[in-house]
Amino acid sequence: MTKVLAIDGPSGAGKGTVAREVARALNWTYVDTGAMYRAVAWKARHEAIQINDEDRVAAVADAAVFELDFDRVVINGYDVTRLIRTPDMDVAAATVARMPSVRRLLVARQRDYAAAGPVVMEGRDIGTVVFPDATVKLYLDATPEERASRRAKDPTHGFSRAGEIGVVASALAIRDRLDRTRQASPLTRADDAILIETTGVPARDVVARVLGIVRERLGDETPTDGRR
Ligand code: DC
Repeated sequence: MTKVLAIDGPSGAGKGTVAREVARALNWTYVDTGAMYRAVAWKARHEAIQINDEDRVAAVADAAVFELDFDRVVINGYDVTRLIRTPDMDVAAATVARMPSVRRLLVARQRDYAAAGPVVMEGRDIGTVVFPDATVKLYLDATPEERASRRAKDPTHGFSRAGEIGVVASALAIRDRLDRTRQASPLTRADDAILIETTGVPARDVVARVLGIVRERLGDETPTDGRR
C-alpha cells in the first residue's frame, strides 16, 4: 500500500489546517473526507431529495464525480466549496454520514485516492475503518470551548455573522454527539493512533510536530520528494 497519514478527530480540533499544511510540506495528496459527505448532502438537496432517504442519497453518492484539491470541492461539475460550509449543511452532512450504504460507497472512493499515491486524509474513521494499516495515525483533539471558539472565528464556515460562541458551541455539541453515537463507523480513536492535544497550541507547532512524527516513521525515506 502507498503511504497514508490518517488524521481523525472531532470538528474544530484543527484537522483541516494541519492536514493541508502537512500535505503541502510532504507533497502528498490531501483528501478532506468530510467534504465528500458534505458534497453528497448538498447534491441530494440540490436534487430535492429528502435528506433521510437513504436509497436516493446513496444513488447520489454512487454517481458522484469528485474533484478535490487543497481549496476546492467540486461534485459532478458543481463548485460547492463555499456552499457546503453552512450550519444547514453541517446537519445534512451529519445525517448522510450515518448511512451505512453512503459510507461504503465513499470509503471505496477514499481508498482509490491512496492507490494513486501517498495521501494525507482527514476525517472521523480514517485510522479505524478506511485505512486500518495507515503509515501513521493521528487523533487530534481540543477542549469543546477551544473547538467552538475556532469554529466561531472561521470565516469559511458561515458563522462569522452570528459569531456567538454559545450558538456555535451547542451546534458543535449536537454534531459531536451524532458523530460519536452513530452505529456506522462512529468517531473513535484507533488504539494505535497518536493523540495530539491542540488546545492552546499554534497550528504551525502542531504541523511541525506531525512532520516530525511522519519523518521519523518513514526513517530513511525522504518524504519531501513527493509521490513514490
Ligand atoms: O469534517 P466535517 O465537519 O467536514 O464532516 C462533515 C460530516 O461528515 C460530520 O458530521 C462528520 C462526518 N464525517 C464522517 O462521518 N466520516 C468522515 N470520514 C468524515 C466526516
